[in-house]
Amino acid sequence: MTAPLLDVRDLRVSFQQGKNLLRAVDGLTYTVDAGQALAIVGESGSGKTMGVRALLGLLPPGGKVESGQAWFGGTDLLAARPEQVRRVRGREVAMVFQNAMQALNPTVTLQRQLTEHLRWHRICGRSEAVERAAQALADVGIPEPRRRLRMYPFQLSGGMRQRAMIAMAMVTRPRLLIADEPTWVLLAGRLSLPTALPGGGRAGLRP
Ligand SMILES: Nc1ncnc2c1ncn2[C@@H]1O[C@H](COP(=O)(O)OP(=O)(O)OP(=O)(O)O)[C@@H](O)[C@H]1O
Ligand SMILES: [Mg+2]
Repeated sequence: MTAPLLDVRDLRVSFQQGKNLLRAVDGLTYTVDAGQALAIVGESGSGKTMGVRALLGLLPPGGKVESGQAWFGGTDLLAARPEQVRRVRGREVAMVFQNAMQALNPTVTLQRQLTEHLRWHRICGRSEAVERAAQALADVGIPEPRRRLRMYPFQLSGGMRQRAMIAMAMVTRPRLLIADEPTWVLLAGRLSLPTALPGGGRAGLRP
């Protein structure tokens, strides 16, 4: 039997609020196999976002991982050094954030954001990065991708911004995509994933 792609065990996240300790995530355990899609459902404030942000070292100030393990490809992300987590984040595990503007820099063109992301992770050289960036926009159904690449996020429609954010997550062909965004599910439904991201959204992922 092969190991799961992601194996989260007894994850606990808390926030110190004055004298009180707020338990945002209290003993979360699950696994995700390669090729599998897992939906985490829970009421507002139940810890869905903090549960996944903790995996990528992206807890807001005051947030702390109390205990737990998160095994991804032989590494416990919760015990790994920050630079190790940075190499995994965006490359092996990508995240579509709940807030679109968190992932897109408003002062930088889409081309620069997508290509710098690829180059930071040393995935390819400059000219190939531009090709890949255009392809990533086309894959999520953004028309005229070459022209859109030269735009800033604020010049896009809201829906296109959502798509650009998904393109940003998918451009590195991560092994695991975390989508913390209800509208992404709606968008996926509307796009009809088989055309937008062949294979129900999973084909863009590396096996
Ligand atoms: N920066 C913060 N400081 C203190 N507490 C926080 C902070 N961010 C989140 N929390 C608390 O952590 C708990 C879990 O929040 P989280 O954002 O994970 O919920 P969620 O399940 O994603 O909710 P939603 O469905 O509304 O997105 C909540 O009680 C929230 O108030
Ligand atoms: Mg949330």
